[in-house]
Amino acid sequence: MHKWIMSGVFFAACALAIVLMFTLPGKEEVAEEAKPTMPEVAMDAGQAEALVKANCITCHGDQLQGGVGPALANIGSQDDVEKIYSTIIKGKGGMPSFKDKLKDEEIANIAMWLAEKK
Ligand code: HEC
Repeated sequence: MHKWIMSGVFFAACALAIVLMFTLPGKEEVAEEAKPTMPEVAMDAGQAEALVKANCITCHGDQLQGGVGPALANIGSQDDVEKIYSTIIKGKGGMPSFKDKLKDEEIANIAMWLAEKK
């Protein structure tokens, strides 16, 4: 009788382990989350400038010279496009995330526009 209970518990544990193996996110998915992939868009400087004016200059200055946030006027010589994209998507310190405010494509466009500022 005792043996039956023990093997029952053992099989339940195995079943749970198998279920968890398939439902928990794998390491790769976690890494994916940490570094968002940028959608491919054709750069539109006019749209980027308008979006930056509407969303960013309150903190980064109307000439991107800096203010509450650091200057972005030469950001392209410091960060590559992927890093800028990731900063805008995720936010950083006092910088809010724009993931829910702007479309991924708009953020990609801004990142490409800023990456050219060297
Ligand atoms: C509420 C103020 C605020 C707004 C709005 C804001 N930022 Fe920022 N941003 C910051 C702050 C503060 C930092 C510095 C964060 C840190 O390093 O801890 C920052 C950092 C950054 C950086 C990294 C700069 C570096 O030198 O590492 C980039 C790129 C950036 N912001 C782009 C943008 C863009 C593009 C927008 C508009 C879509 C924007 N920010 C809107 C406050 C803001």
